[in-house]
Amino acid sequence: MKPRTPIYITIAIIFVILFIVYYMFVQNATFLSSPYFWGTVVISVILALIHSAIGDLIENDKFKKLSAAEKEEYLNSKKVPYFKSLYESAFKKQSSTEEKDILIDHGFDGIMELDNQLPKWWLGLFWFGVCYCVVYLMSYGLTDFAHQGKEYDEEYKAQTASIAEYMKNTPPPTIDNAVYSADNIAAGEEVFKTNCVSCHGDGGKGGIGPNLTDNYWINQPEKTLFKNVFHMVEDGSPNNPTMQAWGKNGVLTGFDIQNVAAYVYHINQEQSPITTAQGGAAPQGTEAHWEK
Ligand code: HEC
Repeated sequence: MKPRTPIYITIAIIFVILFIVYYMFVQNATFLSSPYFWGTVVISVILALIHSAIGDLIENDKFKKLSAAEKEEYLNSKKVPYFKSLYESAFKKQSSTEEKDILIDHGFDGIMELDNQLPKWWLGLFWFGVCYCVVYLMSYGLTDFAHQGKEYDEEYKAQTASIAEYMKNTPPPTIDNAVYSADNIAAGEEVFKTNCVSCHGDGGKGGIGPNLTDNYWINQPEKTLFKNVFHMVEDGSPNNPTMQAWGKNGVLTGFDIQNVAAYVYHINQEQSPITTAQGGAAPQGTEAHWEK
């Protein structure tokens, strides 16, 4: 007769399993204050106590039927603390004298196969894995637990919200505080492709509007190139309404203008001009001498 698992171990295991199940279905630890969780714990503990009491009755009954030597052996085995005997049984090896009993009638090249017991720690892990898998599959199938798609959506929403919040609290740049940044060129190129390319051509080579890659400018209201572009896009051309006031008309925000101005600065200063020979529009206006 083997000593039984102590009731407090059973209760601890029940608690851990209930915790995992609840955690996977609720997906946060708020259930710890829910009466449902504690109700399930109490009911499970009561069932475990009943189970243990019945076990005691059966054990007593069996004990009476044992021989004196068996009784002695059983009482001794009960004296070993539970965790010690668990540890020992987990790493127990079959003795070589038992080999003949577990020999399987199957060999190859003189090597015989033994039907060794699986180590207890291995079996424990295996069954834990099986139970965990069932709970996991159920919660994965029935709830939103561990779905990357949903996690992505949530993070995406949180980030969009924080960007919106940032934009709301950050006033858009104005001509006074806008600055050139190489980081804005890519976003500026998008603004340019959407709003400007129809008149200023691919890469700013010019068309209905002037070539923006050369050093000749009709309008030079500002001293630096970056601010000049910002000014023109914000206010439009004073002499030619074809170039509208994108900022003042509310078509583009200060952020868009700062970006597109960075892009125009980039194609004008950091790339060579697109000449007439390369399909660019002829220079218009006077040569500019921008301050740095
Ligand atoms: C509908 C056609 C049109 C669109 C679209 C347009 N522009 Fe213009 N743009 C012009 C014209 C025409 C001029 C010349 C204005 C003048 O003669 O004073 C001009 C002038 C400019 C100038 C000053 C150039 C100079 O030599 O003085 C800048 C900078 C400029 N545009 C940038 C932009 C940007 C950036 C966009 C997109 C947000 C844009 N434009 C969209 C037609 C357009």
